[in-house]
Amino acid sequence: MSLAETTRTAEVMDAIRRRVTSRTLAPGDRLPSIRGFASAMRVSPSTVVEAYDRLAAEGLIRSRRGSGFYVVGGAAPLTLAEVGPKLDRAVDPLWVSRQSLDAGPETLKPGCGWLPADWMPMTELRRSIRALARADDATLADYGGARGSAALRRLLARRMADQGVEAAPDQIILTASGTHAIDLVCRFLLRPGDTVLVDDPCYFNFLALLRAHQVEIVGAPFTPNGPDLAAFGKVLAERRPRLYLTNSGLHNPTGASLSPHVAHRVLSLAAAHDVVIVEDDIFADFEPEPSPRLAALDGLCRVIRIGSFSKTLSASVRCGHIAARADWIEGLIDLQVATGFGAASPAATELIAGALGDGGYRRHVEALRRRLSLAMRDVDAKLARLGFAPWTEPRAGVFLWRRLPDGLDAAAVATAALAEGVVLAPGDVFSVSRTASSFMRFNVAQCGDPRVYDVLARAMART
Ligand SMILES: Cc1ncc(COP(=O)(O)O)c(C=O)c1O
Repeated sequence: MSLAETTRTAEVMDAIRRRVTSRTLAPGDRLPSIRGFASAMRVSPSTVVEAYDRLAAEGLIRSRRGSGFYVVGGAAPLTLAEVGPKLDRAVDPLWVSRQSLDAGPETLKPGCGWLPADWMPMTELRRSIRALARADDATLADYGGARGSAALRRLLARRMADQGVEAAPDQIILTASGTHAIDLVCRFLLRPGDTVLVDDPCYFNFLALLRAHQVEIVGAPFTPNGPDLAAFGKVLAERRPRLYLTNSGLHNPTGASLSPHVAHRVLSLAAAHDVVIVEDDIFADFEPEPSPRLAALDGLCRVIRIGSFSKTLSASVRCGHIAARADWIEGLIDLQVATGFGAASPAATELIAGALGDGGYRRHVEALRRRLSLAMRDVDAKLARLGFAPWTEPRAGVFLWRRLPDGLDAAAVATAALAEGVVLAPGDVFSVSRTASSFMRFNVAQCGDPRVYDVLARAMART
């Protein structure tokens, strides 16, 4: 065999080994056909035959007469590190998301930010999925328009009006998710090196996403009524941020809501310093009565409102939305086309419009509020028994922000709990100044299993 042939054979063997190691080819899977792989690798079929024969001699694959080559069972054992939580990951702003998203079904997730699947409106969703199967071909197969379904945008405009936010359907665009909506707004308004103001603490993914945009992140301490106004004004004057990113109602992670006084002051300070505000109102539907909203008070002048359906309808059917002033919409749509080629998936928006459009969703949300309120009381009492101290009592929603007793370090407790299959949310992942090490955020809907408290107590005793 010539040197060139030997090299080509080795390349084919390496390509197969990589697929086995990455588990693109799992034990028992059939290898690509000799002809097909030869053409994909631009080698002759005899090179692939030679490579497969050698891999068979190594024991990585074996041939079955008349049927091809297969990966040998157990040849690439999955290490625990691959299936379980990444225990050695630094406790950074992506820690809770990565641990929660990668968790197996047996893992308990009191630290995650979403509701358990059996708290979601499955009847409405399934009904809407059946209706979607009867939709026209274009809905199931084509790209959506650049703004997204007109029907869903009209529905959203009506719902926002109920919450005091006046937005015409043309001022609303649908996006791939709430996260994508924030990403688009950041792309629209920010350049690397700009400064962005967040609450301290704030939703950890604001920090992760802003880092991806290579901007400077500054924080203003958050109080049970909203940002600390003196600190807020000082940061605006001294650091001149371009953007302020916040949740005014049912703030993540504290559960606090803006008081009317703070809301007005935030808007006038933002106007004085020409700061754009991004109000991420993803928890709006959890409130029985809307608390003060910057988008409502400002009339979508310098405030951009973000929303999504992940918390009350489905995080699997991905879709978010942006409401902004009319002259910003075109630029946002261009970015949406550039980075996602059109709006949220038409199938997803059709499904959401179907599920939102009847009284079932309203009844679901009302039942959800009652269930969350009971869970909040129950979880609060159980945490108090473990020595956790309150910070504020949220008026609704899913989160409790609680201080650990005895100066315990939340990251150490969370790391110990993770080893026992419980994902917690330690305070510093939410804090740009990393001054929340004695706090934890609890999602009361994910705290129903008594093992949460057993593991928490053990982790606290051990640290
Ligand atoms: C404040 C906030 N914004 C946005 C998101 C993400 O929304 P989506 O699932 O639509 O990307 C979350 C999810 O936890 C959140 O808590």
